[in-house]
Amino acid sequence: MAELVGCFAASHGPLLVRDWARVPAAEKTRLSAAFRELGRRMDAARPDVLIEVSPDHWVNFHLENIPAVCIGVGETHEGPPEPFLKAYPHREMPGHPELAAHVVKTALARGFEPSFSYRLKLDHGFCIPLWRMELERLPRIVPMIVNSIEPPLPTLERCFSWGHILSEAIESYPQPMRVAILASGGLSHSIGEPTMGRIDEAFDRECIRLLSHTDEKALIRYLENAVPKAGNGTDEVRNWLVAHGAAAGRGFQLVDYLPVPSVYVGCGFAFWKMKR
Ligand SMILES: [Fe+2]
Repeated sequence: MAELVGCFAASHGPLLVRDWARVPAAEKTRLSAAFRELGRRMDAARPDVLIEVSPDHWVNFHLENIPAVCIGVGETHEGPPEPFLKAYPHREMPGHPELAAHVVKTALARGFEPSFSYRLKLDHGFCIPLWRMELERLPRIVPMIVNSIEPPLPTLERCFSWGHILSEAIESYPQPMRVAILASGGLSHSIGEPTMGRIDEAFDRECIRLLSHTDEKALIRYLENAVPKAGNGTDEVRNWLVAHGAAAGRGFQLVDYLPVPSVYVGCGFAFWKMKR
């Protein structure tokens, strides 16, 4: 049986790479340290496969077809197409088609109906955390795209339940294998709307506080009310809910949080404690 060996979460944003030179030095230091600390913890968990949960920022899916959830079942995934990620070290990343297909089958058996794709490009949402975490070795990647970009979006509760599906799929996978989960996105940010650039620090801190507890009903209730007022990018907190559900109420530990106006994002970094 496979084993869930770690759940992690990190923010992303194009400006973390594109406008890195403009980020004040003290914030650069903290951001780099937080990414590296997650990378150190992920290396220590020694995952063979990483299920990475991120949105698709108009790279694979457009208005003619936007899945609520799409699992990448390909042998490989393409590297990021964004010009500012030209220096990203992997033009192609290995997938794990067998585990990915098992996730899809497990979901279907539970009444969840994801889309799946043999051909995905992994954009900055996937690649910025992977790059900045400075991993010793890139695990095979099973991408899970959750629509937090174009409404209507999957419900917050559903995203939490998806975490249970992932942990069930991992635990029922017949081969021994170490699997980690990385949620990429959030916390509060606002892009391409009148509040562009606003970071809702109060929202971010309450979200972090609630994630540190095991009362997921209180967390989801809070998010349902607060996410629509905290900027359109904040919908990406769905990915953190997937990881939270997969970790099944084990303790959430914050590595760092800092609002970074120069990149427009309330940047959070966290991991969940795993069973020994
Ligand atoms: Fe994003």
